[in-house]
This record gives sequence, structure tokens and C-alpha cells, in this order.
Amino acid sequence: MERLQKIIAESGICSRRKAEELILDGKVKVNGKIVTTLGTKVSNDDIILVNDKKIKVEKKEYYLLNKPRNYICSLEDDRKRKLVTELIDTKARIYPVGRLDYDTTGLIIMTNDGALANILMHPKNKVEKTYLAKIKPCLTMEELFTLKKGIAIDNVVCYPTRVKIKKHDANKDTDLVEITIHEGRNHIIKNLFKEIHHDVLKLTRTKYAFLSIDKLQSGEYRYLTKEEVKKLYSYQIK
Ligand code: URA
Repeated sequence: MERLQKIIAESGICSRRKAEELILDGKVKVNGKIVTTLGTKVSNDDIILVNDKKIKVEKKEYYLLNKPRNYICSLEDDRKRKLVTELIDTKARIYPVGRLDYDTTGLIIMTNDGALANILMHPKNKVEKTYLAKIKPCLTMEELFTLKKGIAIDNVVCYPTRVKIKKHDANKDTDLVEITIHEGRNHIIKNLFKEIHHDVLKLTRTKYAFLSIDKLQSGEYRYLTKEEVKKLYSYQIK
């Protein structure tokens, strides 16, 4: 169930504000009855008419994508860079849940379900994300402890839930670090390492909540199952 004005706006005929005006002006019917209450909840099965024209309610779609490098997590780009939405063969107006940087690879959920996207992105729901970061120079023991204890970025401390060195290359002075966090600030992993004076040479997201990148090759995607979508919804803390 979703709010009427949201469903109308999502059908693409107008903005949410305009949809609210239309509802208040008595121009919207749900299952044959005029509805003037903002926030009335409707479902995909309800028949909604705006100015006596039926609106098309888009079916919700959910994808798990292995984002390649050099794709932008945005719906448009004035620099004409490639968009993650171009990788998925659908007519639905899907968008990425959160962002991975242009040069970051890995797991990202794409959907047109705004309610689920909000749940997953809300900090209070603490959805875990795991990254593999190739960093230079190698971490000292002290820095590893600093990272595990938490580091302030813009005065807000980010507390990784797990940090593990997966591979150490003394010759190249690089470490492959697996790090799990449950926040979604932009560039958060790069900024964490920047605070302790390390460059992130490569970054990939391997897990999101209970989902992992599995066998998906770069640029490949799959549908989420009904059970997976239900489980993602359960991340909402009441
Ligand atoms: N942290 C980053 O620095 N970049 C990403 O793309 C994701 C998390």
C-alpha cells in the first residue's frame, strides 16, 4: 500500500505536489469514488482516475546488479557518462538504491520501489554493506585498531562492524581489506582510509544486507526473488 499522491506522481503524469493539488481539488477517483484526503493508501489493484483518465501504475521491479567501473549511479549525467540504468533491460523507471562511485564496482540494488529504497537507505535501519578495498600503503597494527574503533568523518563517527586484512603484499605495499559498515554516506570508505592517510586504489562492494555478488559477472544482473524482497522489507525498524 502506498500514498495516493505518490502513486500518481510515480505514474509520470505530474509531480507529487501537483498530485496533492489534484486530490484536494476532487479530480482523483479511486475505484469510482472521489478521494480528497491526502495520504489515502492505495494498492496496485486499485483503479485510479485523474481527471477521469486511468493512470498506469508501474509494477515494482527489483534487480541485483554487479556494477562495472565507469558507470554512474544517477538517472542523468551532463558529462554524458554511462548510467547504471542503461545496463538493465526494462521499461520501468528504476533507479539505484544509494550510490557507488563512478570507479567503484560491485553490488547495487536497482528498483522503482521508493518505499523499499527508503527503508534500505535510512541510517536507523543499519543495513550492512561489505566492501573489499585495495589500499596503499599497507595498514600498521595501530591503524587497524584505529579503524576498528571508529573514525570521525565530518564530525560523525563511522564504526565499522568488521575489518579484516584478506591479502597483504609487502612488495607492492598494498593490502586488500574487507570492511563492513552500516552507513551510506557518499565516498565513506575512501574517506575512512583518507583519514588515516591511505589511498584506495580499488573498491568493490561484495555484500549488501544478506545479499552477495554471487556468480554475477561485471555488468550482469538478476531479479530479486519475492522472499528476498520480503526479507529486505523486514529491515525496517518500527
Ligand atoms: N564508499 C566509497 O568511498 N565509495 C563507494 O562507492 C562506496 C562506499
